[in-house]
Amino acid sequence: MSGNESDTIEARLGEQEYYRPPPAFVGQANVSDPAVYERFEDFPEGFEEYARLLDWDEHWETVFDGSDPPFYEWFGGGRLNASYNCVDRHLDSYGDKTALLWEGEPGGTRRIAYQDLYRMVNEFAAVLRDVGVTKDDIVTLHLPMVPELPVAMLACSRIGAPHSEVFAGFTAPALADRLADADSRYLVTIDGYYRRGEFLDHKRKADAALEDDTVDIDTVLVFTREDELHPDTDLEDGRDVLVADRLADHHGERIDPVSRAANDILFLMYTSGTTGKPKGAQHGTGGYLSYVAGTAKYLFDIHPTDTYWCFADIGWITGHSYIVYGPLAVGATSVMFEGAPDHPHRGRVWEIAERYDVDIFHTSPTAVRMFMKWGEKHLQPYDFDFKHLTTVGEPIQPEVWRWYYEHVGKESAVIIDTWWQTETGGVVISNLPALADMKPGSVGQPMPGISPAILGGDGEEIEPGMGTAGYLVLSRPWPGMLQTLYEDDERYISEYWETFSETDSDDWHDWVYKAGDSAVLAADGYYRVLGRLDDVMNVAGHRLGSMELESAIVEVPQVAESAVAPRDHPEKGQVADAYVVLKEDAESSEEIREAVVNAVSEEIGKFARPENVEFVTVLPYTRSGKIMRRLLTEISNDRELSDTTTLEDPSVPEEIRQQVESH
Ligand code: WT7
Repeated sequence: MSGNESDTIEARLGEQEYYRPPPAFVGQANVSDPAVYERFEDFPEGFEEYARLLDWDEHWETVFDGSDPPFYEWFGGGRLNASYNCVDRHLDSYGDKTALLWEGEPGGTRRIAYQDLYRMVNEFAAVLRDVGVTKDDIVTLHLPMVPELPVAMLACSRIGAPHSEVFAGFTAPALADRLADADSRYLVTIDGYYRRGEFLDHKRKADAALEDDTVDIDTVLVFTREDELHPDTDLEDGRDVLVADRLADHHGERIDPVSRAANDILFLMYTSGTTGKPKGAQHGTGGYLSYVAGTAKYLFDIHPTDTYWCFADIGWITGHSYIVYGPLAVGATSVMFEGAPDHPHRGRVWEIAERYDVDIFHTSPTAVRMFMKWGEKHLQPYDFDFKHLTTVGEPIQPEVWRWYYEHVGKESAVIIDTWWQTETGGVVISNLPALADMKPGSVGQPMPGISPAILGGDGEEIEPGMGTAGYLVLSRPWPGMLQTLYEDDERYISEYWETFSETDSDDWHDWVYKAGDSAVLAADGYYRVLGRLDDVMNVAGHRLGSMELESAIVEVPQVAESAVAPRDHPEKGQVADAYVVLKEDAESSEEIREAVVNAVSEEIGKFARPENVEFVTVLPYTRSGKIMRRLLTEISNDRELSDTTTLEDPSVPEEIRQQVESH
C-alpha cells in the first residue's frame, strides 16, 4: 500500500492482561529509575549518556547536526575505533573472561577469551593489510556462524575498512548483487560449515558469484572450518588466499586501531525494499556503536558478569548489533552457535543454555512457535534459568508469548518484545524491562529519546486508544539510525522520508521517518506492530522483497510474469505465495512449479522459497500499470477483497480467486 491509497485499517485487537516484572529482576537491573526517560527527553543531549559508555580518542564537539536533513551526523568531531571499544579496552579487567562462546555443530566448543579475541582480531587485521585492504575499502564478508565472522568484522573496523556481511544462506547471484553494489574488491569466505550433520560447500558460492561481470574482486580470503582446507575446495591462483597460510606470517602481530571520525562508515547491511535491488543501509561508527552499547546495557540488561545468548544469525542486523557490537562493547560473554536447533536433537538450545548458564536469551517468535510445536518435553530435561527473554522480528501472538513466559521463563524471567529494523541500527520501541509491565502481544513503549507516532495516510496523527492502525513513523532522529543508503541518497529519501516530510525544508523537525510498518497505539501508550505496509514480507523473521522473488521467478523460461504475496502461517509467521502467469504456449505442470521454487532457491537462497505456486491467467494491475499485491495477499489469506476501483479491470481479483480455488 502506498501513501495515497486508503491506509488506515481497523484494528480491533483484544486487550491483554499485564504481568509485573519479577522483583528479583528489578533488584539487579541496570536501569530501574524512570528518570531515564526524562533525561533522554532532553534532545539531543540525552543520547550523550550512551556515547559516554564508550572510550573516545577525541571527544565530540556537537551531539547532533541536523542542518542537512535527512542526512544527520551524530557526535561530530569525535573520534573512536569500534574494535578498540569491543576488545582492547576490556583487556585489563576482563582479559581472561570469555568474550565469545561458540558451540559447533558436530560438537566442540570454543571459548574465546577477550585476550584471545584481541590476538585473533589483530592477526587477521594484519592479513587484511597484507593483501592490500586500506582504510575505507569495503570488505564483503560471506561467512556463516563461525567465530571468524565476528573476528573479521572487528578486524575490518580495526583498520577502518567498512564491512558488508552477506548472510551465508544467500546464494551466488544474491552475493554478486551485493558485491557489485558495494564496489567491493575484497571478499572473505570459508570453505564450508555444518548444518544438520552435513558439511556444506560454501566456497563454491563465491566462485560462482565472481563469474558475474559486474563483480570486480581482486582477492578472496578463504578461512577453513577445520584445521585443513576441505579436500573438495579449490583455490584459484592469484585470486584466492588461504587465511591460515597468511596468519602464519603475522603470528603475534599487533595492529594499532585506526582512529575513525564518528561519522565514518562502520558497515553496510543490505536489506530488502520495494524494488528488486537490495538497499545498502549504511551505518556510521560513533552513533551506531553508542546506540547498540546503550541498548545492550539498558534494554537487554547485560552486565559484564552475564552470559548472553542472542539466538540469531550474525548475517542479519540482529546479530551485528546484539551478538557482536552491543554485547562486546559492554564486556559480556556472547554465545554463538553453528547449525540448527533440532540437530542432533530438539533439546539442543536448552542443553546449551544449561551448560553455559545463559542468563539472557534472545530469539524470534518463529523460533518460539517452533519450540512450542515440538513440545515442553524437550525443555524438561534441562535445568536452565533465564532472568531476561527477548523477542524480535515479527509480531508475537499473546498465546505464544504466554508459552514463552511459562515454559522458557518459568514465570520468573522478564520478557521484552523489541521493534526495530536494519535501518534503525538498534531497538527503538520496547519496554525497559524493570520499568514497565509486560503485555503479551505488544512491543510496548518507545525507548528513551525515541519519538514514534502513528499517522493516517493524510499525515494526521492517530491518537492513542482509537483502535485504528496507521503508518508507524519516527519523528525525531536517534544515533543508531542509518546514515543513508550506500551511494543512493535519492532512494534513501524516497523510501523513508518522502511520504510524510516537507522535503524542501532544511529544518529537521519537518522530516519524518516512515518505517514501512503498520501499528496501533493503545490508550496505555503501548505500541503493537502489525506488519509491513509495503511489498516487503517477513518470512520466518527474514525480510524479503516481493520484487526480488519475482525477478528470480520470471527467469523460468515458461513464465511470463509473476507476483508474490505473503500468506500468514502458524509457525513461520508468513510464507510467500507465488502467483505465476505462463507464456501462451506453456501449460502448468509439476515441473514448472518445481522450476519456480528452484529459481528462488538458486537466485536468493533456500530460506526464501515460495511455499505455494498458483498458476493464474491474469494479475491485478492498476490503471497506472502497477501490480496490486495487496489484493493477492487478501486472496492468499482468504480475506475479503478491499477496494478494487483503481484496477485496470476490477473483476480480475475475483477471477484469480476462482482460479486458485479450482485447483
Ligand atoms: C521489520 C524489520 C530488527 C531485527 C530483525 C528484523 C518487523 C521487527 C518486530 C516486532 C513486529 C517486527 C517489521 C520491521 N519487525 N521487529 N517486535 N514486532 N514486527 O530486521 O530484517 O530489518 O526487518 O521486521 O516489519 O519493519 P529487518
